[in-house]
Amino acid sequence: MATSTAALNEKSSLVKDWAKGYESQLTEYNYWIDEIEGTIPPELQGTLFRNGPGSLEVNSQKIGHPFDGDGMICAITFQEGQAHFQNRYVRTEGYLKEQAAGKILYRGFGTQKAGGWLANIFDTNFKNAANTSVIYWGDKLWAMWEGGQPHQLNPETLETIGTDNLNGLLETKQPFSAHPRIIDNRFINFGVKGITPQSLTIFELDEFGNKLEQHSHPLSGFAFLHDMLVTENYYIFVQHPFQVKGLPFLLGFKTIEQCFDFNPEQPTKIILISRHGNHDLEILETDSFFGFHHGNAWEKDGKIYFESICSDSFPQKQQEELDLAAISFDDFPNGELWEFELNLSPKTVVHRKVIERGCEFPSVNPAWVGKEHRYVYMSACNSSAENGPLQAILKLDKETGNQQIWSVAPKGFAGEPIFVPRPHGTQEDDGWLISLVYDAATHHSYVTILDAQDLNQVTAKLHLKHHVPHGFHGNWTSKIFLKSSENAQPS
Ligand code: CO
Repeated sequence: MATSTAALNEKSSLVKDWAKGYESQLTEYNYWIDEIEGTIPPELQGTLFRNGPGSLEVNSQKIGHPFDGDGMICAITFQEGQAHFQNRYVRTEGYLKEQAAGKILYRGFGTQKAGGWLANIFDTNFKNAANTSVIYWGDKLWAMWEGGQPHQLNPETLETIGTDNLNGLLETKQPFSAHPRIIDNRFINFGVKGITPQSLTIFELDEFGNKLEQHSHPLSGFAFLHDMLVTENYYIFVQHPFQVKGLPFLLGFKTIEQCFDFNPEQPTKIILISRHGNHDLEILETDSFFGFHHGNAWEKDGKIYFESICSDSFPQKQQEELDLAAISFDDFPNGELWEFELNLSPKTVVHRKVIERGCEFPSVNPAWVGKEHRYVYMSACNSSAENGPLQAILKLDKETGNQQIWSVAPKGFAGEPIFVPRPHGTQEDDGWLISLVYDAATHHSYVTILDAQDLNQVTAKLHLKHHVPHGFHGNWTSKIFLKSSENAQPS
């Protein structure tokens, strides 16, 4: 059946609305939110930090991929039933130099400098965009980017203090990924160094940010590791079958993104590293698939389980120049929620598709990290049948199989849902989901607070005075950093 013109028009206006949500936000705000629908629960006290590219241009020169946009931190403080908003760009070295020059000075994941291959040849010095996540740990606030060191920020003002080598733990250029996991009050993170050959280093930090563990492992082939998982006994990584054809990149003809080659004939490797003893490494192979983000992992009856957002293939359709409004979601595979069961002896991997609707940004109650959980929260497509932008928040109850969906379609676009536990709550889903929603109808964003036990119970919507571009990841801390004298609440 041919797709009707009306359906095509509807799709194209949806993509345009979504692309509008990437418009740069160059203003840095600092205010108490005064347009509030509903009531902010008084026991919801703390700060939600979120990171993402604030701008996809440098002085109107377009960059080539959202992964390369300069990191802009949002801090939303919840205090005594009120909420305060602040946003600020991370003053990375690259940001400061490019702002001063008024042009793109660095290559990125999908960005080339102007001037063709001659301007790019042999330049492998990427800009640390500090744009992927932000987390408060050990009395430090870090803006994180997987290719380099974190940037330390002042949690009250969001001012940039500088790159942080974690008291000498990170050598110069030692990457520290943007997907740490926290288990039993330990901060676990990793970094992958090099293109080929590569080495994987794992870090465990205590609650003060001091080193508990650090060990490195050589990797075979090319691993594009964005996220990790952890259980009581294992670190888990998923290595998808990529090759990098590096010569066109080194010669300046292509971006590194254009040199990625996904080989569906090759297996995806699941790397298990023991958290104890000699940190032995084992590899389990399974059919090829791709995914950026994992949910949670756990051990049960001698087996290891994890869930991940996966697709059968990697989207390799690329535009010559980034034009988000012209992207067709039909060209990209759905990200589905898959659950994996790993057996070590004999080595077997089986998976099942849990949710086939397109989804992203899976999260669980932080107290259940590494343990068998019942609930998963995600951003999701509005349609269960077709791929599209993320317009809903989904709660999956794995025990009953029940899915609850809170949708902001047709004009709304929902970011990562961050689970905030209710203080002294004991049930796994006792808490709130907080997410930034971009509303194309008003070209403004709002912060939504949903009751995680029943997503249809919208606790509050906090309307911002402007839009916040679509972002990546954030984290919650129960700490409040605003100085009451300088940031008096509205009376
Ligand atoms: Co990510």
